[in-house]
Amino acid sequence: MARTVYFAITCLLSVVLSFFELGGHLVAANPGRPSILPGRNCTINEHPDVSDLAGASYVPHVRAARLPSGRTYRYVHYSPHGPEKLTVLFLHGFPSSAYDWRRQFAYFAALGYGVLAPDLLGYGGTDKPADVGAYTLKTQAREIVELLDCAGVGMVMSVGHDLGSPLLSRIATYYPTRSTKYVFLDIGYVAPPLGLTAAGIAALNAQTLATEGYEPSGYWSFFNETGAGLVLDTHDEAVHNRIFAPERGGYDPALNHYRALYRDLNLQDENVIPKSATNLTKPVLLLTAAKDPVGTPARAERSTRPYAPDLWVQEIDSGHFLMLEKADEVNKAIKEFFENE
Ligand SMILES: *[C@@H]1O[C@H](CO)[C@@H](O)[C@H](O)[C@H]1NC(C)=O
Ligand SMILES: *[C@@H]1O[C@H](CO)[C@@H](O)[C@H](O)[C@H]1NC(C)=O
Ligand SMILES: *[C@@H]1O[C@H](CO)[C@@H](O)[C@H](O)[C@H]1NC(C)=O
Repeated sequence: MARTVYFAITCLLSVVLSFFELGGHLVAANPGRPSILPGRNCTINEHPDVSDLAGASYVPHVRAARLPSGRTYRYVHYSPHGPEKLTVLFLHGFPSSAYDWRRQFAYFAALGYGVLAPDLLGYGGTDKPADVGAYTLKTQAREIVELLDCAGVGMVMSVGHDLGSPLLSRIATYYPTRSTKYVFLDIGYVAPPLGLTAAGIAALNAQTLATEGYEPSGYWSFFNETGAGLVLDTHDEAVHNRIFAPERGGYDPALNHYRALYRDLNLQDENVIPKSATNLTKPVLLLTAAKDPVGTPARAERSTRPYAPDLWVQEIDSGHFLMLEKADEVNKAIKEFFENE
């Protein structure tokens, strides 16, 4: 009996405490934005483990949220300056983390925008489930929107790079009213039903082998193999060794993004997306990378233009990681796109 009462009081206390923790955070994060509903059933940790970030300048803005789905995402969060400024959502690709956007955070924060950049599932300080089924685009899209809700962020302008672009594509499909603008870097929009499947990748490789003499996605079958993460763990560069240190789970969880696509785990979700949801209904900026042999400008534009009635395209003279290599140019292009009415 005593134990039951003690347990009930402890539970009540933790509910009350989490209410204040969450409420306090939301009030602090969103001055003048009372219209946004507070996220429900999430816990925000203001001081998550950042030991892998080696004192990066944005460390004071790193948070972690336990979402209603039960997953914990670590993310970078700057609040907007004033109620009229939106938040920019940044979705990184492979093999990366929110660290990819370090040349964007201060720039957009100084313009008054909010910034929210998660470590996606399997990366950095976010959960790394071994179950490939956790990495479907629909599930991830829902979790990113849960994260926005938890962080008290309403409408966003959304930016995706590399494998972050297919995820951004489905955030647009499933949550078309959450973003006012979309920016795709290097890899364009992927319309439903998604062609990033085993058959789609095989067809792309066959076609580009015939026309261009190489297979831009030849590595997908290797990434799909058991043990591929270990091979990457033991052949790596300094920065990536820190982000993907074997004691932090290594590369293997991140490869699950490829495996979920390559094992056709999205097909069931993709096949029931209505035709009417195929087009992007908001302005789109596509920044292509002139020197990327995997995500070529032509392919990115081909996959985007038929579905984006309001499309801007700009080619950046850069390799794959254009937001790092040509940060100033990329930032300026995105700023102009955001400011255009
Ligand atoms: C809150 O989320 C946890 C998982 O994080 C879940 O087990 C629980 O059922 C949720 N409660 C409500 C009221 O939704
Ligand atoms: C990917 O790996 C899974 C598990 O090993 C295997 O069942 C599947 O056949 C592989 N897919 C392709 C297209 O090779
Ligand atoms: C989708 O966008 C394309 C390209 O702008 C346009 O031609 C087409 O009419 C749009 N389809 C629908 C259903 O709006």
